[in-house]
Amino acid sequence: MSRFSEPQDPVFQALNSSVGFDYRLAPYDIRQSLAHIRMLGRCGIVPQDDVDEIVRGLELVRRELEEDRFEIAPGDEDIHMAVERRLTELVGAVGGKLHTARSRNDQVATDVAMFVRDRCRRAREAILALMEVLASLAEAHLDWPMPGYTHLQRAQPVYLSHHLLAWFWKLRRDHRRFGFCLDAADELPLGAGALAGVNFATDRRLVAEELGFARVAPNSIDAVSNRDFVIDYVGAAALCATHLSQLGAEIVLWSSEEFRFCEVSDAFASGSSIMPQKKNPDAAELLRGKGPRVVSHLVGLHGMLHGLPLTYNKDLQEDKEHLFDAADTLELALAAAAGMLRGIRFRREVLAQAAADEFPAATDVADMLVTRGVPFREAHGIVASLVRHAIDSGRTLSDLSEDELRGFSDRLVPGFHELLAERAWLESKVSEGGTALERVREQLAEARRVLAEEGA
Ligand code: ARG
Repeated sequence: MSRFSEPQDPVFQALNSSVGFDYRLAPYDIRQSLAHIRMLGRCGIVPQDDVDEIVRGLELVRRELEEDRFEIAPGDEDIHMAVERRLTELVGAVGGKLHTARSRNDQVATDVAMFVRDRCRRAREAILALMEVLASLAEAHLDWPMPGYTHLQRAQPVYLSHHLLAWFWKLRRDHRRFGFCLDAADELPLGAGALAGVNFATDRRLVAEELGFARVAPNSIDAVSNRDFVIDYVGAAALCATHLSQLGAEIVLWSSEEFRFCEVSDAFASGSSIMPQKKNPDAAELLRGKGPRVVSHLVGLHGMLHGLPLTYNKDLQEDKEHLFDAADTLELALAAAAGMLRGIRFRREVLAQAAADEFPAATDVADMLVTRGVPFREAHGIVASLVRHAIDSGRTLSDLSEDELRGFSDRLVPGFHELLAERAWLESKVSEGGTALERVREQLAEARRVLAEEGA
């Protein structure tokens, strides 16, 4: 018997069915069901013989899934129904006892939380691997000068190691963020039932313990409507993918004939079908391109939750494709970034030559005037005129004679030419976190300490 008098319209079925994508939750669904039925047995809600039979059946279903023999039947709306249907085929009517004291509402929330926890752990591992590559690259290019940029204009020289470590710290924050997500998803929804709790004295803590959840969701209404942890995960993924996108964009730029700062390995590049001379940094381009895709999933999830009345609404089924694609895309991008950077080659001479441009030393000249008592704003004006004068006469700063300098300020000499000597402006950046070699060494030691602490 059914409440319905006519069959579902195929168009409705196509709209309503989620098994095409939520089959990925099957391993979690089985683990959850095993924990649930064992708890029902321990609490005396289902007789132990029935529990044993259901456990045996679930193990058979698990094997079918693992061996790729599991078949989705036409009536299977989602993976939860598919597993239960197959279980009942295998063990008979007793399989119907599995769903005692459970609703698909708390069931699906639990599967998704388990999925998110797994993917947080994987993201953290992949991020650490990439951080390790960056730290090693920084060590290998410790004292290679290069120009630092603002507005994509050469601004001040830095060491390549310092620049590479900037990416390390961005990823360090991503790593932390996935730690917060892990905690957000560490609350067991199961036991909330459809929304109000269940009519049986279940032991939710037992289930939480078996499934490795730190806590039990304290409110059944919140538990079945909560997808915050999905947004937390995809939010962390979006920012991490945005970092990788920025990194990719930089490598694309640096690999260009115009920059020539680096060359990606052949393993992460492609050729052109028509221009034989070309080597394209496709991996870097795709890192750049994947970022907004992950961000779009975050936007989609916010849209899904927006305005939803409590508690479960079918809209929530839309969480999965956003979540799955965000996780797959992020993990692929992290692996690609690590692989690409492992094989990258930097060009020391090109970087050094670009860093030897003297105009970026203008700030240092202004600072020298400041140490000689000139107010910074005035010093800024003096040096701006000096730069203008050098450019107008087709020269660079160190070409200017002491006499000429005196025309701008009598405090420019002596010391002006010494200041422009190679590396002087790098080594003068001694403030904590600055580019002076000593400071970069400290930073590297701190980076290594973080990696060791996180078990990389
Ligand atoms: N496939 C559904 C989802 O992903 C499972 C929960 C369905 N619950 C319900 N009452 N129809 O959200």
